[in-house]
Amino acid sequence: MRAIVTTANGDVSVMKVETRPDPVPTPGHVLVRVKAAGLNFADILARQGLYPDGPPKPCVMGYEVAGVIEKVGEGVDQDLIGKAVIAMTRFNGQAELVAVSAKQVFEKPDNLSFEEAAAIPVNYLTAWALIVTMGGLKSDEAILIHNAGGGVGLAALDIARHIGAKTFGTASASKHEFLKQRGLDYAIDYRNQDWLPVLMDLTGGRGVELVIDPLGGDSWKKSFRALRSTGRMGVFGMSVASASGIKGKLRALKAIALMPRYNPLGLMNRNKGVFGLNLGHMWGEGEKVAGWTAEIVKGVADGWVRPHVDRAFPFDQIADAHNQLEGRKNTGKVVLIP
Ligand SMILES: NC(=O)c1ccc[n+]([C@@H]2O[C@H](COP(=O)([O-])OP(=O)(O)OC[C@H]3O[C@@H](n4cnc5c(N)ncnc54)[C@H](OP(=O)(O)O)[C@@H]3O)[C@@H](O)[C@H]2O)c1
Repeated sequence: MRAIVTTANGDVSVMKVETRPDPVPTPGHVLVRVKAAGLNFADILARQGLYPDGPPKPCVMGYEVAGVIEKVGEGVDQDLIGKAVIAMTRFNGQAELVAVSAKQVFEKPDNLSFEEAAAIPVNYLTAWALIVTMGGLKSDEAILIHNAGGGVGLAALDIARHIGAKTFGTASASKHEFLKQRGLDYAIDYRNQDWLPVLMDLTGGRGVELVIDPLGGDSWKKSFRALRSTGRMGVFGMSVASASGIKGKLRALKAIALMPRYNPLGLMNRNKGVFGLNLGHMWGEGEKVAGWTAEIVKGVADGWVRPHVDRAFPFDQIADAHNQLEGRKNTGKVVLIP
């Protein structure tokens, strides 16, 4: 099979499409013929050598695919062969074939293309955990979604709108029109102005009850200041570090030095909460994740989960696909086609 191999830490030139032995499904596993694989910001950080959870290189990245079950291992229902599915993969998804536990596979909704289906797992599960499970957003509350035009950002917008909360989002200005069409109440250009006074102005000086912040570093300080009493901040990324080579390492160190440190007494007296989410550390909590997945799949059927594919790149254009995310050009999800 062909697979996208990240051969070393570095810029986009370190990725090659190589031939690898076909995986064999072990007991309890299925073999999926990949039709579309999701690209995530974690893949960019892993290539840059800034992602501690990434596998040792050379490696095949990829947390999620949509495809068709081609073979099943011992103990798995033979009737699954030929079924169109979505699968969560712990790496190795950016390949023509991937073997994955049957527990990490769920049926692809008929009304989604393979490309749209591959845009679901990481983005929507992350947004669900942040907003519903940990953030507890209510219909009479307001949320600030950073990078609202990105993969997780658009998923978060769908979920916040479904709850009925008021939505604020930061994004590059070129994405604002699209975000408004998708139902975002207020889009804020955070790259050409200080977003905090703008948000405070829009909220009558009160702030919002939930902020989800994947930027890291001193952005977390500022997002915390945007919280109204009883507000919660969910931290889930370190995008500010993104860069190849020594520049990335220096940015990561700077982000760590600038990030806030919270005192429980300070949180108590301010009536504010801070929590963190790493979906990649939820593999041992299959039942919880399955529950979230069921809600999201229901949302597809009900029409409020609307995965948006920015662009689909063939495997041999993997460098362009990474540049699309790294260069902030994407609105929604970038997917890879074998
Ligand atoms: N903890 C978890 O479980 C988890 C799971 C999924 C994703 N994440 C994190 O969530 C964030 C979003 O992930 P995603 O996969 O959905 O990607 P994405 O948001 O589609 O990523 C690209 C977008 O991020 C924004 N951005 C902000 N700072 C950037 C920078 N320094 N370089 C490039 N782009 C930057 C840009 O949009 P604008 O310029 O329009 O803002 C860009 O278009 C990432 O930080 C990722 O690591 C965490």
